[in-house]
Amino acid sequence: MKAVVYTQFGPPEVLQLKEVEKPAPRDTEVLIRVHAASVNYGDLIARNFKNITARQFNMPLPLQLLSRMYLGVSKPKVNILGSEFAGAIESTGQQVTRFKVGDQVMGYLGQRMGAYAECLCMPEDGLLALKPANLSYAEAAAVPYGAITATSLLRHAHIQPGDQVLINGASGGIGSAALQLARYYGAQVTGVCGTPRLEYVKSLGADRVIDYTSSDFTQNGETYDLIFDVLGRSSFSRCKPSLKPDGVYQLASFKMKPLLQMLWTGMVGGRKVICAMSSEKSEDLVFVKELIEAGQYKSIIDRSFPLDEAAAAHRYVESDLKLGNVVITMQGSD
Ligand SMILES: NC(=O)c1ccc[n+]([C@@H]2O[C@H](COP(=O)([O-])OP(=O)(O)OC[C@H]3O[C@@H](n4cnc5c(N)ncnc54)[C@H](OP(=O)(O)O)[C@@H]3O)[C@@H](O)[C@H]2O)c1
Repeated sequence: MKAVVYTQFGPPEVLQLKEVEKPAPRDTEVLIRVHAASVNYGDLIARNFKNITARQFNMPLPLQLLSRMYLGVSKPKVNILGSEFAGAIESTGQQVTRFKVGDQVMGYLGQRMGAYAECLCMPEDGLLALKPANLSYAEAAAVPYGAITATSLLRHAHIQPGDQVLINGASGGIGSAALQLARYYGAQVTGVCGTPRLEYVKSLGADRVIDYTSSDFTQNGETYDLIFDVLGRSSFSRCKPSLKPDGVYQLASFKMKPLLQMLWTGMVGGRKVICAMSSEKSEDLVFVKELIEAGQYKSIIDRSFPLDEAAAAHRYVESDLKLGNVVITMQGSD
């Protein structure tokens, strides 16, 4: 089968189309013919991992060291990128009961990756769900990572109907999912993003949008029940006046200081800091599939690139021009 392989860390050009051995499913695995895989934050970081600074990694140093052990120190240990995908079940292991040949699915492989390929194997009890009937493979491929991560993280925030929620980083994988989930939970949502993506964030259902390049949301006098910061570019001290008295400041990306603030604010009353790691569950993917089929959650594709143009897809995402999700599609896909 064909796959996009990389054997050294570096710029998009390290991604090379190659012929590799087609995997065979074990007894409890399914073999999936991939139709589309998205290009997300994790792919860009993993491709260039050797050169990623602690600031770019956005998480505590021990987690960066763990990822380094997994992804490789001087050379990549994982040679095929792509953590989220949509495709069809081509064959199943003998003990598989949850899926059958022909099922259209979407899934998340996490750091294991491997979706920039014509086929992949994964356990049937992995992060895999049927594809929403009303999405194309390309649209479905961009759903799993953001949906699973945001559903899990927002569980800690206990959003109530009528809450005022601000998402700092609303145009990315996690933020676009968090925005739509917060709307579903009944909140009024303000999305913060860069200038080119203001319309995209509005089209996802944001009640208000703020351009972080021209205005500072902590200075406009508005207050929120939840400020959810994806990249951790704000700080609790700056956001405190923008939080309601019992408001929550939640970070998807955090270092040591916010962790200490979480401990401290957990002991005293008032505004709270939450730093949490997502606990990924396939039930959350099934939940979002149902929201999509009910018309309450969208996946908007900006551009699709064929498998042999994976490097161009990465260059495009890094260019700051993207206005939605970017996917890589396989030959013969819709
Ligand atoms: N806690 C967990 O369990 C967990 C799990 C997975 C990932 N993460 C973390 O989540 C982060 C990746 O999130 P993602 O996949 O959503 O990334 P992404 O797709 O690259 O999106 C990043 C978002 O941040 C926005 N942004 C960039 N600079 C900003 C600034 N100065 N101020 C405000 N917003 C800014 C971007 O806006 P524009 O593009 O419009 O400029 C975009 O909306 C990583 O740091 C990763 O470590 C955490």
